Amino acid sequence: MKALVLTSPGQIELKEVPTPTLSAGKALVKIKATALNRRDDWIREGKYPNIKFGGILGSDGAGVVESVHEDSDQSWVGKDVIINPNIDWGPDLDIQSGKYTILGMPVNGTFAEYVVVPVDRLHHKPFHLDFLQASALPLGGLTAFRALFRKGGLRAGQNVLISGFGGGVAQFAFLFAKAAGANVYVSSGSDEKIEKALKLGAKGAYNYKKHVNYEELWKTKGGFDLVIDSAGGDQLNNFIKMLRPQGKIVFYGATNGLPSKIDLYRMFWNQLSLVGTTMGSDHEFNEMLAFVSQHQIRPLVDSIRPFSRIVESFGDITRPNKVGKIVFQVG
Ligand SMILES: NC(=O)c1ccc[n+]([C@@H]2O[C@H](COP(=O)([O-])OP(=O)(O)OC[C@H]3O[C@@H](n4cnc5c(N)ncnc54)[C@H](OP(=O)(O)O)[C@@H]3O)[C@@H](O)[C@H]2O)c1
Repeated sequence: MKALVLTSPGQIELKEVPTPTLSAGKALVKIKATALNRRDDWIREGKYPNIKFGGILGSDGAGVVESVHEDSDQSWVGKDVIINPNIDWGPDLDIQSGKYTILGMPVNGTFAEYVVVPVDRLHHKPFHLDFLQASALPLGGLTAFRALFRKGGLRAGQNVLISGFGGGVAQFAFLFAKAAGANVYVSSGSDEKIEKALKLGAKGAYNYKKHVNYEELWKTKGGFDLVIDSAGGDQLNNFIKMLRPQGKIVFYGATNGLPSKIDLYRMFWNQLSLVGTTMGSDHEFNEMLAFVSQHQIRPLVDSIRPFSRIVESFGDITRPNKVGKIVFQVG
């Protein structure tokens, strides 16, 4: 089969590899569609723990179950599925186990014509999504769902700021928060993306590259109950200024690195919380799928490409005008 392999530091190659074989408790899925995440590029760049050369990348995938090991439920065979990329989250909803990892490194992932996964990673594909849309959902959808609801405690009517609307996870946070009845605002470094967010129902937006006086900018909105961010860096202090008393910043990444200082005075006086989160439990994956089906949410897709173009497409992960996921038709 064809698969995208990390061959050496910084090098990925679409090459012929043996089709994986079944072992106890596993299912073989024929991948119909897969999608890129920033994580894949971090791994290519060597900025991730436990990197294994020769491994197949890819955390997101949707397809059809080809076969299931004889010890497991055969009724999955022939079913349209999406794959939960969590490996060994464990039983505690609050924190992943020490064995936790994500499909696509070090475990072989979904950038392949076939993948073998534990049978309990299979979920029925949401009926309203085609394979391409469904493949965009798992990693970003799960991360956004936990950040907003479990960690952020978002409720209808609250003001939420989704920072960096152009991000893959941020766009799910935007869609989910809107579906939950929140007043959703966004920031972006691109006016084009801001325009798109406003068209999709954002109540307001600002360009973080142009506006520096955030406090003034948001005074009229009454402040935010919740900010969702993955950029980090010194703008954290702007978020602290924009929060209402008791507000929360939930962050799932630090693309721009660490802040040089944090305004702790304002944080303790206003009873603010800075909360970290990562991916989500299996329980939240189920909840996220139910939420997506209930609200008929469709992921935003930047482009659909043939699988043969996956290597060159890595260069587009950080393309400034990208809105939505880059998705590949595999089978
Ligand atoms: N912990 C987890 O479980 C988890 C899961 C998924 C992702 N992540 C991490 O979260 C980060 C984002 O992931 P992703 O997949 O959403 O990546 P992505 O699709 O590449 O999104 C990156 C986005 O970050 C935004 N950004 C850059 N600088 C910013 C700034 N100063 N202020 C606000 N936004 C800024 C940009 O938004 P605009 O284009 O709108 O300016 C950009 O589109 C990465 O570091 C990733 O590794 C963590």
